[in-house]
Amino acid sequence: MKLSERLRAAQGEGGRHRVDQISASQVEEGVADGAAEGAPLPADTAEWRPFGTGSARTTPVPGPTGTPGGPPSDSTSGVATGGAAVAGPEHAKPSPTPRPTGPSEALVRFKAEAREELFTRLGGRLTDSGLEESELHKLVRRELTALVHGAEIALKPEERWQLIADLTDDVLGYGPLQKLLEDEDVTEIMVNGYADVYIERDGRLHRAEVQFTGEDHLRRVIERIVSRVGRRIDESSPLVDARLEDGSRVNAIVPPLSVDGSALTIRKFGKVPLTVKDLIEKESLSPSMVALLEAAVRARLSVLVSGGTGTGKTTLLNVLSSFIPGDERIVTIEDAVELQLQQEHVVRLEARPPNIEGRGEVTIRDLVRNALRMRPDRIIVGEVRGAESLDMLQAMNTGHEGSLSTLHANTPRDAISRLETMVLMGGMDLPLRAIREQIASAIDIIVHLTRLRDGTRRVTHVTEVQGMEGDVITLQDAFVFDYAAGVDHTGRFLGTTRPTGVRPGFTEHFQELGIELPEHVFEVELPRRSRW
Ligand SMILES: Nc1ncnc2c1ncn2[C@@H]1O[C@H](COP(=O)(O)OP(=O)(O)OP(=O)(O)O)[C@@H](O)[C@H]1O
Ligand SMILES: [Mg+2]
Repeated sequence: MKLSERLRAAQGEGGRHRVDQISASQVEEGVADGAAEGAPLPADTAEWRPFGTGSARTTPVPGPTGTPGGPPSDSTSGVATGGAAVAGPEHAKPSPTPRPTGPSEALVRFKAEAREELFTRLGGRLTDSGLEESELHKLVRRELTALVHGAEIALKPEERWQLIADLTDDVLGYGPLQKLLEDEDVTEIMVNGYADVYIERDGRLHRAEVQFTGEDHLRRVIERIVSRVGRRIDESSPLVDARLEDGSRVNAIVPPLSVDGSALTIRKFGKVPLTVKDLIEKESLSPSMVALLEAAVRARLSVLVSGGTGTGKTTLLNVLSSFIPGDERIVTIEDAVELQLQQEHVVRLEARPPNIEGRGEVTIRDLVRNALRMRPDRIIVGEVRGAESLDMLQAMNTGHEGSLSTLHANTPRDAISRLETMVLMGGMDLPLRAIREQIASAIDIIVHLTRLRDGTRRVTHVTEVQGMEGDVITLQDAFVFDYAAGVDHTGRFLGTTRPTGVRPGFTEHFQELGIELPEHVFEVELPRRSRW
């Protein structure tokens, strides 16, 4: 277990050790496994954050801004209050006189100094990607021990724990973001500057009650993230995409490009990716839509997932790809790897940005072209956003049917026009009609996602690309979201995405392919029963 986890475990329910009995040497050993059982900490100890920097609690927007957590209550439930920096019998009793300065004030100062000191002692080794993580942990433990030994400030046991946990998060983890990263309900973290952190929880934006102590603190966390993936960020290379160990996607941008201080955006993906069952439970998809989409993927129809930013396109793409039979060879192509396919026969390719000298770039387009020489049964492109769209369309039209991708668009019709624009921007001098013909014959279905005002993400359209009528690509909705059903008193949408009653033309081939699709899938008044 990581040091920070052990420290936190010792604070929480499962590991309530008498913290005033834990010495600095136990910190060195990784802390507290062997610490004596004793009086429990006050119930609120685990929640308490001395500086408002460690709490994952949030306030909805608009709300109070980054207010610190309240001070700890001094005397509850049998805890030795007034414990001092150095554990020992003389400190076990409550201190007869109150400390001259408030705990927060003294602690804030000490913590800031200790953090600076730790960073100074560790120096460049913190961002040295050549240093093994375990080596770094050992090093930090040693320095932290020395600092705890040398602490002259009177610390209560819980303050000491909090201090150690926070410092460990700062140095080995992601500082004040650590708790947000560990909170499974938080799906996105947005840092707009050191004092301005927002999160997305349950599909809604909230202001988080955490902040960095300053721009330097934020920059250190950013540097730690990017150095772990062998990248660097500074004025000459001020924007970086990276990934955390758990697969979360990170974008960092620093001044001068980001005018008001560094900005960091982390898209979290659960350790276990959302499954089709999850999406049905969240009402993003209905069982009927799933039946249709599963049949379509198995029948090698090409599907384009469209939607605005953060609507769940990649997640749905991942779910759709789970319908690909296990005996097919899949090549995935992404800017930064996000897809988590469950099949075994998968080759994952990742594009590469240019290096500092502007060389070495490998684009999505290069990878699509390369993938064609890898005998793929299916090509999955994480997102088409440029010149690769033409290559993708050509691949779909020349024996690589059944390929899947996503694209930013506001409606299914918009998805078509964006695709046209991308092909035009790719520099190929093709007449618009030829481009449209390529699109109409390559794409069979557009699945459109929307993040509704109530925070839910729903598939609002399943649309068939029928073909061309004159110069226009004809689209036909098979399912659309029923906005007319309105919202309830909490603002939640009451509607669902319903069949329009029109059976898509492509389903005619299902039977010859041996794919069964129940008739009720397209019945307008569909009973809401689950087949899962
Ligand atoms: N149907 C859903 N219900 C609830 N949360 C979801 C759903 N789909 C995705 N999410 C969550 O929403 C966030 C965004 O998902 P995802 O990355 O798939 O969106 P995206 O449209 O691909 O975003 P981008 O435009 O940035 O590429 C993730 O944290 C994901 O776990
Ligand atoms: Mg995406």
